[in-house]
Amino acid sequence: MRQKLAAGNWKMNGSRAALHEVDELLRLHPEPKVEVLLCPPATHVAWMRERMGQSTFRTGGQDCHSEHHGAHTGDISATMLADVGASYVILGHSERRADHGETDALVAAKVRAAWAAELVAIVCVGETEAERDAGRTLEVIARQLAGSVPDGAAGRNTVIAYEPVWAIGTGRTPTTAQIAEVHAALRAQLHRRFPHEAEAIRLLYGGSVKPGNAAEIFAVADVDGALVGGASLRAADFSPIIAALEAA
Ligand code: PGA
Repeated sequence: MRQKLAAGNWKMNGSRAALHEVDELLRLHPEPKVEVLLCPPATHVAWMRERMGQSTFRTGGQDCHSEHHGAHTGDISATMLADVGASYVILGHSERRADHGETDALVAAKVRAAWAAELVAIVCVGETEAERDAGRTLEVIARQLAGSVPDGAAGRNTVIAYEPVWAIGTGRTPTTAQIAEVHAALRAQLHRRFPHEAEAIRLLYGGSVKPGNAAEIFAVADVDGALVGGASLRAADFSPIIAALEAA
């Protein structure tokens, strides 16, 4: 049985003052039936961990370097994220791939670093609108999954997030049939490559998940939760998404 995961990605948003949203989420979900994760900017991970106290809520980073320490000005390692209380790290987000030229090989190296630091890696894959229009969605996803996920992936160390680039921050979402098609393809590929772990690896959908569409998305086969950007910033938006996942 895969434990469902409601993951929030604050991206480059938030502040110390915004951490009161965590208090509010804890008040609304004292004993969540699903795993709840919030990934704030790295500067705020330690404070968020502190706010989460003894709860089952988890925090994580949005990226890490592929090395654990060294002369890499401005970078942050998986070891450092773990040191301040992170349990997860998002890797290969399309914004990292686009803004920082991250390749599948680099993402795979970061995943190995995350595992070495005992972080769970959330590996993001997703097609652009042009790739979907060209009928290349499944081919692109397969290539990204093959290249970004190293040997050794297992349910305990890896989560895959399907995030169509054209659905991120746009308010547009794929149809449930389109989500089902990609998630089934991801699961099948995991079965071929990691036969003993494929059923344990969680698959998240991400891209414009909102309180109004969460239940419909969570009803899709092989959707084990969501990676939520904008709607994770406020407890008033993220709470109904957590509730929809609990009810799914
Ligand atoms: P969004 O972002 O929910 O704001 O579309 C999702 C993501 O990029 O993880």
